Amino acid sequence: MMYSEKVLDHFSNPRNVGEIENADGVGEIGNAKCGDIMKMYLKIDDGIITDAKFKTFGCGAAVATSSMATELIKGKSIEDALKLTNDAVVEALDGLPAVKVHCSVLAEQAVRSALSDYYTRQGIDPLPIVGEIKEPEE
Ligand code: FES
Repeated sequence: MMYSEKVLDHFSNPRNVGEIENADGVGEIGNAKCGDIMKMYLKIDDGIITDAKFKTFGCGAAVATSSMATELIKGKSIEDALKLTNDAVVEALDGLPAVKVHCSVLAEQAVRSALSDYYTRQGIDPLPIVGEIKEPEE
């Protein structure tokens, strides 16, 4: 199995690891099959994601994809963060082996889960905006 240098870099030196105290949105997503869990914390000001941190109890690809996902959404608007797909995360990492692509879905859904929590805290129904949060099934 071949991992890109970017994957190895984000795995051995993950960005934005940790928690945000007083986060505006916190999301958690797990994959029942592999048992990996990802937690995502967002700080949001005026519709802009000013900070993002994560904790991942999971495989190397899950760590690398959550690291890259936080880098991709920091400084972005909520609208742009909602457009973040797992494919975009994989592309930013110069690819992932096919059997590891599902790990990137965990990162995509962790972001959406945190944004969903953000709207819930504002008293806004997240479903029409964020859609359903899907636990990856692979
Ligand atoms: Fe579970 Fe990668 S094997 S997220």
